[in-house]
Amino acid sequence: MTDTTRELRREAGTRTIRMEIARYRPGRDAEPVFEGYDVPLMADWAVLDGLTYVKDRLDGSLSFRWSCRMGVCGSCGMTVNGEPRLTCGTFLTEYGGGPVRIEPLKGFPIIRDLIVDIEGFLAKLSSVRPWLVREGEELPLGTEYAQTPAQLEAYKQYSECINCLLCYSACPVYVLDPDFLGPAAIALAQRYNLDSRDMGDRFDVLNAEEAVWGCTFVGECTRVCPKHVDPAEAIQRYKVTAAMRSVLPWGRR
Ligand code: SF4
Ligand code: FES
Repeated sequence: MTDTTRELRREAGTRTIRMEIARYRPGRDAEPVFEGYDVPLMADWAVLDGLTYVKDRLDGSLSFRWSCRMGVCGSCGMTVNGEPRLTCGTFLTEYGGGPVRIEPLKGFPIIRDLIVDIEGFLAKLSSVRPWLVREGEELPLGTEYAQTPAQLEAYKQYSECINCLLCYSACPVYVLDPDFLGPAAIALAQRYNLDSRDMGDRFDVLNAEEAVWGCTFVGECTRVCPKHVDPAEAIQRYKVTAAMRSVLPWGRR
């Protein structure tokens, strides 16, 4: 325990907790290794605060992503004691006497320490065109498309997604098959499919073995989602749409 840790502990009158953090430094580590750090167990500290403490006071080379610290940006997802969690919304006190083990999100290539490569996800996201598609239309400046509360409600749940990727990390299909389009991309496709203003056709991307038909409906994606999106429901719902469209091929989506 460093002098600074003792000082903080004395000031706060609190205990410390052991954080076991996965380190991977390209060129130095052949594979990830765990290193242990003692941090103050403050009542209001999230796991992200513990990581920040390590970086600021104990080892400045520790690398991890974060931005908002309030569950909005989606960048601080990591594996905490085996579960995908937003580290800014997960309190250290949940882990009592510790240790608390921090690893990168499972299923993604590791760039360094706790930072994973999300390029594959970004390509999948683009493939579903996650924006309002208005085929063949030039919008005059100031154009608005009014919606009723019921029309908004039809897709609102899916619009809460913050692209944190916890659902991918929890998904047994994605972890075995990185080509699986995956929960968030499909939920975001549905966010636009169900929007009364959208005219896009995402059938060819979604109606595929590596898209909705690859899902075995385990439901872990929905369980771990910190924003209460229900990707499992989005996927099952599009299976019905796709099946109906096979019977009624003139249906739009
Ligand atoms: S669906 Fe939920 S868990 Fe998945 S990326 Fe969006 S917010 Fe994160
Ligand atoms: S830091 Fe933005 S969601 Fe955690």
